[in-house]
Amino acid sequence: MSTLSLGLIGFPIQHSLSPWIHNHFMKKLGINGEYVLYETKKEHFAATIDRLKEKQLNGFNVTVPYKQDIINYLDELDPDAARIGAVNTVTQINGKWKGYNTDGMGYVQSVRDYYPDLFQPKNRVLILGAGGAARGIYRALVQEPFSIVDIANRTFEKAQQLAELKDDHVETNILSFEEAQLRLEDYDYVVQTTSVGMNKEETIISLDNLKKGAVVSDIVYQPLMTSFLKEAHSNYGKIHQGHAMLLYQAQLAFQIWSGKQFGLGDTLKLMEERLRGNE
Ligand code: ATR
Repeated sequence: MSTLSLGLIGFPIQHSLSPWIHNHFMKKLGINGEYVLYETKKEHFAATIDRLKEKQLNGFNVTVPYKQDIINYLDELDPDAARIGAVNTVTQINGKWKGYNTDGMGYVQSVRDYYPDLFQPKNRVLILGAGGAARGIYRALVQEPFSIVDIANRTFEKAQQLAELKDDHVETNILSFEEAQLRLEDYDYVVQTTSVGMNKEETIISLDNLKKGAVVSDIVYQPLMTSFLKEAHSNYGKIHQGHAMLLYQAQLAFQIWSGKQFGLGDTLKLMEERLRGNE
C-alpha cells in the first residue's frame, strides 16, 4: 500500500482528536497518507457522501450524528454493526463500501488492557445509559464471559430495547437510577455511557454505595478526570478514563484500513498530554 486516503464525517468535528491519532499511526507504521475532516451539516450529507465516493477514500470514520444514516449508503455491513444499528468505520474495497462498528470492541479492549482480571463470570456489570454509545458497549460486553450485565437508564423503554442485543449466556436486569444507587454494592464494574459530566461538574448517580475495589469507567473524556471518576476514586474504586475508548476504536479502524496489527506503545500517554493541554 503506497498511500492511505482517510477521513472523518460528522458534525461538529473541528476539535476531533482523530486526525492526530491516525496521523500518529501512519507515522508509527511508516505509511504515507492523509486523514481529512469532512465536517458536514445534515442538509449536505448526501453531497458529502458523493464526494467521498468520487475521492475513492480507502476508508473513513463516521461520528455523531451520522452513525445510523451512513448504513443506507453501504454495500456491505458487518453483522455486529448491523445488530448495534450504527457504523463508525467504513472501508472501501474495489469501489464497495463496508461498514463496521469498532466503538464497543475498542472500549472493551481498552478496559481489558488495564484490568484483565475483571473479565470473569463472577463479576457483575452495570451499564448507566442506553443511548447510541451504550449499544456498542453493551453488545461488546455481552460477548465477554460475564453472567450479569445490568442496565440503568432514565427511560425504561430504551433500556428494554438495548437488552434485546443480549446473548443467551447473559442475564440483564433493568434498573432505575435510584435502584442502581441503592444496589451499587452488587457490582464489580460500572460503566457510565451518557454525556452527563461532559465539560460540567455533574454525576449521573451517587457512588456512595460503591463496592470497594470495583472498576468504574466513564466514556466522557473531557475533562479526563470527570466528577464521576473523582467520586469513584474517593469511594475506593479503580478508575478507567474515556479517552482510552477513543484511541482503541481508532486502532481497530486503522487495522481494518491498513491490514496491519500494531501495538499502541506510548500513544495513550501522548494523547493525555494533548487533552490536558485543552483543559
Ligand atoms: P449517545 O449516542 O451519545 O449515546 P443518545 O443516544 O442521545 O447519545 O443517548 C444518551 C443517553 O444518555 C441516553 O441513555 C439518555 O437517557 P434517555 O434514554 O432517558 O434519554 C442519557 N441521558 C442524556 N442526558 C441525560 C440526563 N441529563 N440524565 C440522565 N440520562 C441522560
